[in-house]
This record gives sequence, C-alpha cells and structure tokens, in this order.
Amino acid sequence: MPLWSLKNLTDEKRMKIALASDHGGYELKETLKYFLKEKEIEVDDFGTFSEESVDYPDFAKKATMAVVEGKADGAVLICGTGIGMSITANKFKGIRAALVHDIYTAQMAKEHNNANIICMGGRTTDKKLAKEMVSIWLSSKFEAGRHARRLDKIKQLEDKLLV
Ligand code: RB5
Repeated sequence: MPLWSLKNLTDEKRMKIALASDHGGYELKETLKYFLKEKEIEVDDFGTFSEESVDYPDFAKKATMAVVEGKADGAVLICGTGIGMSITANKFKGIRAALVHDIYTAQMAKEHNNANIICMGGRTTDKKLAKEMVSIWLSSKFEAGRHARRLDKIKQLEDKLLV
C-alpha cells in the first residue's frame, strides 16, 4: 500500500472536504473533486464553476468559512500559484493554510503544522502530484509534542492581533 493510501482514512470516518478555486485553479479543482468522490470522501464545492476570470479571495473565503464553522473537516484551495489562496485563508482565525508543492511539504503540513487547509497552484501542479499531495495530507497524522507547542505560539499571536 503506498504511503498516501486513503484506505485507512475512509475506513475510519467519512470526511467532508471543502474545495474552492479561481479560474487559474478551476481545472485542477474539478480533477480533485472527482478524485475525492471516487475515494468516498464527501466534497463541498464552493466554486468557481468555469474558467471565467474571478477574484480568488471571494472563493477562498467561502471554503475557509466552512472549515472555521466546522462544516468541513478541511479544505483544498487552488488558484494559479496557490499563493493568493493561502494568503487569504490565513487571515481567518484558527486556520493553518499551507501552500504545498510536493509530497514532502504536503506530509509535513499535517505532521508538523496540523494544516487544516492546503493550497496549491493550478498552473504549477501536475494532476497526479496534486492527487498524491491531497492523499498524503489527509492520511497523515499530526505529531503533536513540540509541534503542538509551536502551534500554540501561533495561536497566542493570533489572539493578540489588534487589527
Ligand atoms: C490569477 O491570474 C492569479 O493571479 C491567481 O490565480 C493566483 O495565482 C494568485 O495568487
């Protein structure tokens, strides 16, 4: 079984993942939507629904709010590079959005950072790699310990934000 198999995950719990993209991420979002459904993971698709030009913060906000409100277990956000999506998602309290580029960063995003959102670039990411990154992020476990202490320090900073 490959390291990033989703079998154990789907055996344990039926997850719900929010998806969102702008026009630059639309095609990859559609690919990941069918991939996740195939793996029996519930998907909530917050758009966009075509390649017509849109503004990524509008779509990042919808999927991120689903995570903030506990309506989704996590989210995958895709724009041209993933950068705009990650900047936007990290404005929300309690969100740890990681921009991932490869198997290693996707795995670390969960094991070390307990990322509840991953972001990627529709124009920079091969479809096969995107599926592998989502799979390893979902099937990895947060290692806690010293990493929990560090996340707590991020939370303390977040709680002190004045603006
Ligand atoms: C849209 O052209 C592009 O700027 C957007 O998809 C994203 O890459 C921004 O970070």
